[in-house]
Amino acid sequence: MTTHSSAIMPTYGRLDVAFTEGKGAWLTDTDGKKYLDALSGISVCNLGHTHPEVTRAICEQAATLIHTSNIYQIPLQTQLAEKLAQLSGMEQVFFCNSGAEANEAAIKIARKYGHSKGIDKPVIIVMEGSFHGRTMATLTATGNAKVQVGFEPLVPGFVRVPYNDLDALRMAVGHWPEAVAVLLEPVLGEGGIKIPDADYLASVRNICNQRKLLMMLDEVQTGMGRTGTWFAFQHNDGAKPDVMTLAKALGNGLPIGACLVAGAAVGVLQAGNHGSTFGGNPLACRAALAVIDTIENEHLLESVNSLSAQMLAGFKAKLEGTEGVKAIRSAGFMFGIELTIPCADLVKQALAKGILINVTAEKVIRLLPPLVINVDEANQIVSMVSDLVINFLSSQTVESVA
Ligand SMILES: Cc1ncc(COP(=O)(O)O)c(C=O)c1O
Repeated sequence: MTTHSSAIMPTYGRLDVAFTEGKGAWLTDTDGKKYLDALSGISVCNLGHTHPEVTRAICEQAATLIHTSNIYQIPLQTQLAEKLAQLSGMEQVFFCNSGAEANEAAIKIARKYGHSKGIDKPVIIVMEGSFHGRTMATLTATGNAKVQVGFEPLVPGFVRVPYNDLDALRMAVGHWPEAVAVLLEPVLGEGGIKIPDADYLASVRNICNQRKLLMMLDEVQTGMGRTGTWFAFQHNDGAKPDVMTLAKALGNGLPIGACLVAGAAVGVLQAGNHGSTFGGNPLACRAALAVIDTIENEHLLESVNSLSAQMLAGFKAKLEGTEGVKAIRSAGFMFGIELTIPCADLVKQALAKGILINVTAEKVIRLLPPLVINVDEANQIVSMVSDLVINFLSSQTVESVA
């Protein structure tokens, strides 16, 4: 197996495994070993691997027309935009190729909106613990110093407040007359599956309304059914944003991102203000349309809601009260098991046992299983991960877990 190569820039800490095949929630490696995928390529393959409907759509479209250009009409792009607008209540869509690009579009919209109000140096309020991407503006917006170190000077025009802290947000809004927008995730993904209070998003919406700020939700990880609604903001009345970004699961692995606008954000970007060569090409849009059809036809939102409750109850039954387990939480199929000690080693231990998991924010085991898993697979994830956690914790010294 030739996995390591000096021809690849070493930007990732890769695990020593390569996969050759995938079907549903299962991946096969180069030695023929099977793994249960409880991560979905970090919330990308929400329909599992090689879903037949998505594969069929991609193959048909690849044999018909892959790319033209945004200098022409693209009917599949129009169809996808209308479908996303219908599902979200948003009004218009700009298509790109990744989450960072979708957030770049949002940041440009916020700045242009500010300029249209006579604000020369617009300020965007962002959150501690957030993740928005690796481009210069999105890494600046990201609330994690590790992502920023070495890339200074950062982009000006961002101020940061603690997540899920309305007083801090009100203070920042009061302190910065140049504030034009608030950019946040409905659930912190990379930040450790942190779920805000039930009224948080609606309160952020109110604060934005009072000061005519754009509320901008990064749904790159939470969108497309991951939390049991199409978009996470739909769990709360009165939380609809002015700008929403999507990517990851939108194409189930085919790269596509989107920045959606409503209300005051509509019409901010005009011809010539923004663009993307690949964004919204026929192939990517056809894949995304197949993803949406499949989520609807297979009633996957309902499935996420019922299975996630069962899985959360299963994790709690097995792990709650165990010394070293600090919290167990879920927003639909975003599960976070927070330990009192760093647990990155668990990823390799899980791999050896044949299950793919992730650890984020050092101490949080993050699970993002495909929405298509059945009850057996859900039970397997709960029992395999719980056993791994119990074994991991019992191998640590008592002082370190307390
Ligand atoms: C919430 C959120 N926003 C943005 C991004 C960046 O997306 P991409 O890697 O497609 O640029 C991610 C990726 O993990 C994410 O989780």
